[in-house]
Amino acid sequence: MITPEVKTVADLAQQPEEYRQAVAKIVASHAVNELYGAQVFDEPAIALAPTPYAKWLTCRVAMEEYHHHIRFKELADQMGLAPARYDPAHKKPLSIFQFPLSTWEEFCVIKLLADLAEILQVEDLLHCSFHPLRNIARITMPEEKFHAQFGLDFCSELVKTEEGRRRVQNAIDRYFPMLPKFFGADNSKNNETFRRFGLKKRRNEEMRADFLVRAREVVEHKLGLRLPEVAARAA
Ligand SMILES: [Fe+2]
Ligand SMILES: [Fe+2]
Repeated sequence: MITPEVKTVADLAQQPEEYRQAVAKIVASHAVNELYGAQVFDEPAIALAPTPYAKWLTCRVAMEEYHHHIRFKELADQMGLAPARYDPAHKKPLSIFQFPLSTWEEFCVIKLLADLAEILQVEDLLHCSFHPLRNIARITMPEEKFHAQFGLDFCSELVKTEEGRRRVQNAIDRYFPMLPKFFGADNSKNNETFRRFGLKKRRNEEMRADFLVRAREVVEHKLGLRLPEVAARAA
């Protein structure tokens, strides 16, 4: 197994083309998805937030998601990636962002579940062999945890009323089925390359299985709601 430790962007030039391409894929994917998520979910959610306190915290979440994009974009620029690789107009963002956000409950569920999924992805980068990427993961992780906690805190408030409970459950029923695909295909060739180079640790299917366990914990045990049945494999 090849596990280089690449400490700087300059050192990347000494690595084989396959390693450089693998790093570029991960960096570009995070750069485009952090930006797109901020544009379609976090920023519009400021207008949906019901109180000044909720608006303030949502502003903070939106600010942090834009900042995540900026961090990944800066790394992409240092690596000399073409801007089209992380421009949502050119590179298609992930399907989890295709959900048409229209209510505050939906946004709270997105933070609860999509940011939990993101935490799993970032966990895998905490020991990434490409240190500039590892460093971004270590800086963004506490913020992603704050976003998931934000989702849990506001959902916990909402489920105290019968109407709120119904609305949060309804958002989970419609949003959760989009999430298992977020982890990519089983037996993915890209993922195999990422693991071979020490860029990621787990298989897509391992992360997906872990996510289902952790999502069940928050939805069923912490909120007392029901997690919809979904296929354990990404079709
Ligand atoms: Fe983020
Ligand atoms: Fe986040």
